[in-house]
Amino acid sequence: MRHGQRGEYAVRCVEDAFHDRELEALLGQRRALIVVSPTVERILGSRIHDAFGSGTGRVLCIRSSSGETGKTFSAVETICRGALALRLDRRGVIVAIGGGVCCDLVTVAASLYRRGVLHARIPTTLVGQIDAGLGAKGAVNFAGRKNALGCYHPPKLVLLDRALLRSLPLEEIRCGIAEIIKMALASDPELFEAVETHLGVLLASRFQAPDGAAQQVTEVAARRMLEALQGNLFEDRSLRRTVDAGHTFSPALEAASGFALRHGEAVAIDLALCAVISKRLGLLASGECERVLRLIDSAGLPIYSGDFTEDLARTALQEAIAHRGGRLHLPLFQEIGRVSFLESVAAVDHEIASALEELSNWHTSAVAVS
Ligand SMILES: NC(=O)c1ccc[n+]([C@@H]2O[C@H](COP(=O)([O-])OP(=O)(O)OC[C@H]3O[C@@H](n4cnc5c(N)ncnc54)[C@H](O)[C@@H]3O)[C@@H](O)[C@H]2O)c1
Ligand SMILES: [Zn+2]
Repeated sequence: MRHGQRGEYAVRCVEDAFHDRELEALLGQRRALIVVSPTVERILGSRIHDAFGSGTGRVLCIRSSSGETGKTFSAVETICRGALALRLDRRGVIVAIGGGVCCDLVTVAASLYRRGVLHARIPTTLVGQIDAGLGAKGAVNFAGRKNALGCYHPPKLVLLDRALLRSLPLEEIRCGIAEIIKMALASDPELFEAVETHLGVLLASRFQAPDGAAQQVTEVAARRMLEALQGNLFEDRSLRRTVDAGHTFSPALEAASGFALRHGEAVAIDLALCAVISKRLGLLASGECERVLRLIDSAGLPIYSGDFTEDLARTALQEAIAHRGGRLHLPLFQEIGRVSFLESVAAVDHEIASALEELSNWHTSAVAVS
């Protein structure tokens, strides 16, 4: 049995996501539930209510705690109850306006409600716009584990509106930069150079300037992510994914810190470790490795954490193997923009202690200089 539309959806960069013609056409005469988090309601609430509050749509604020601790199944239930209260039928649509957490929750709710209804996403964080809001996956944390329950349920429409990033705290912008560096390392040396060149202004302006460069960096990063997902949207073709760069050690690090370390910060540390391991294995030139560490550090992201022990790294490798169908598939770097997968646990294991020490020393000398 074939499903003609499986996995097809539109992702568009727009100037005013709340008054977009394609979104208006999608909502049309359908009942629509608009889901926002408390932070987004506080900052964008009046604009959202003006745009969607009347007519067939209704705005529901998920009042669970925002951020990672609010990514629970009970928040999904809240959304489903909201959909029931609004008498959303099979033709109904749920719209997420928020960060990656809100998008993930809505994706899960939309996949379950009446066995699946349409959903659209307007990501309001940099991570959401270049990563979390783009794919087919949704998940909640469960039994103390990140993303332990989830689904593949592609959205119908994703709107990327850079102006929504204006109110984002700097540390959240930094987390987005970590994911952009990941994409650049995995597939695009020019993207890496653009971030190197414009980093200061991108950060300070929260990606509102320099106009051309901010637009180019976010659009290219999102496009590279979509290209990486294409053909393997449901992860049923391959578990060898370039976008897993920075995502081998980071889940264990986040958990070990009790989620005090943000996801993007853990990704930055993971990328730094993989760059050093790549150099030590003779894959990556030492000047290129230095560029990677310098860019991560200049973005105000960590390259090292005291929580990162050899034991933690080894546990993370075993977790990654379980998650990747019994193979390591560790994305390392041959050059900036080109990944090479390593399968030998012994080869990584051999480098972990020295690589961690090297990062600790680099970190100490960087602190001493600044
Ligand atoms: N489904 C996927 O494919 C996928 C991929 C990557 C990450 N994710 C998930 O995404 C989540 C991370 O996303 P995130 O970084 O967007 O986190 P988030 O949703 O927690 O947002 C970060 C913070 O920014 C606030 N915020 C959101 N928009 C704002 C705005 N415009 N102005 C001011 N504050 C704003 C939020 O309230 C929150 O406190 C994780 O749970 C991760 O697992 C999912
Ligand atoms: Zn990530």
